[in-house]
Amino acid sequence: MNPSEPVRMIQVGAGAMGLAWLRTIAESPDAEVVGLVDLDIDVARRSAETAGLPDLPTATSLAALADTVAADAVVNVTIPEAHHPVNLEAMSAGFPVLCEKPIAPTVAGALSMVAASEATGRLLMISQSRRYFAGFAELRRLVESLGVVGTVTCEFFKAPHFGGFRERMAHPLLVDMAIHHFDAARHLVGQEPVAVYCQAYNPPWSWYDGDAAATAVFEFSGGAQFVYTGSWCSPGYETSWNGRWRISAQTGSALWDGDGSPTVDMPGRTGTAGEARRAPAVPEQISGALAEFVHALRTGTTPSGEAHGNVLSLAMVESAVQSALTGTRTVIEDVLADAHAQATDAEQHDAVRAVLKSWRDVRETVGLPAR
Ligand SMILES: NC(=O)c1ccc[n+]([C@@H]2O[C@H](COP(=O)([O-])OP(=O)(O)OC[C@H]3O[C@@H](n4cnc5c(N)ncnc54)[C@H](O)[C@@H]3O)[C@@H](O)[C@H]2O)c1
Repeated sequence: MNPSEPVRMIQVGAGAMGLAWLRTIAESPDAEVVGLVDLDIDVARRSAETAGLPDLPTATSLAALADTVAADAVVNVTIPEAHHPVNLEAMSAGFPVLCEKPIAPTVAGALSMVAASEATGRLLMISQSRRYFAGFAELRRLVESLGVVGTVTCEFFKAPHFGGFRERMAHPLLVDMAIHHFDAARHLVGQEPVAVYCQAYNPPWSWYDGDAAATAVFEFSGGAQFVYTGSWCSPGYETSWNGRWRISAQTGSALWDGDGSPTVDMPGRTGTAGEARRAPAVPEQISGALAEFVHALRTGTTPSGEAHGNVLSLAMVESAVQSALTGTRTVIEDVLADAHAQATDAEQHDAVRAVLKSWRDVRETVGLPAR
């Protein structure tokens, strides 16, 4: 790949988030969108027009477009249920893929995606856009200086009226939103989830059918506890979309409201308590994911959102839901082992199934430390 040329991308999925991606790629000097695919051709044409790209080639399948335009990569912004077929088709055709979160609706589906990436030898990166905030990058830097982490808390309280599928889901907060906060917690403390106890519930005034509120306590591999509490039907004193964070560690504590710069308090060190540090500018949200993907393609480095490393974020969600349903502490490696067996049984592609069967220990595959 010529580093002086923009990466040519075919985008699949032109809905609400698809429009945001079209605009983001159009604004990037490092990438350009060369084609747009959607099952609904009118949606594709309308989104291309709205993004100021009326002449962008559009089609209803990747195969139709891949033959007519020269491209280097695919960005997948379809619904979660379509991530599997679209990613598989793209990687089988030789494209590296940048895919919207979640990697798949289930951990079994995620493992199948990881195996497909191994079978085809193509990069699959998941865009977890909330990893890319200047304030969050600064918080990570501060946490590294605080010594051993004891407790991490994240509070997330909002009251959006989305309408549509989120108000019909069984676990809208845990499945559609908390994956961002769970993923951020891993990225923040550099430890992996071991087990979770979770209660999910629906406040009496809720406008959601499913459980719009939840509290989960995760144990992490290095001993840290991550306490997450949130609600999607909580009018008043709303937090930011990133949530409100506290990190309690050996030599001090850090706070972040999810919007601005974090603060740190290290007793004994003068001049640090409450001091707001200005977070250095970085490409934020999906621009940050795009920048990391392009960098990975140009340098061959492994991006932080690479699929193997993303599975545990989805496993945190699935384990929290399982704990809420059973009322018991759920062990992450048990969820992974069940998902691996399911994925192997269900896999239709011989090459992908062979990869799934070849994994000695699924924990090792996704980077979960041995107990
Ligand atoms: N990072 C974030 O903060 C964030 C926010 C919103 C949505 N998302 C994610 O973005 C993705 C898309 O969400 P959305 O809100 O744009 O959904 P959407 O329903 O608005 O759009 C999805 C589009 O994909 C198309 N599609 C479905 N299956 C397809 C297939 N097999 N081939 C081609 N096109 C297909 C649909 O026709 C639709 O136009 C989801 O994974 C969602 O979780 C992320």
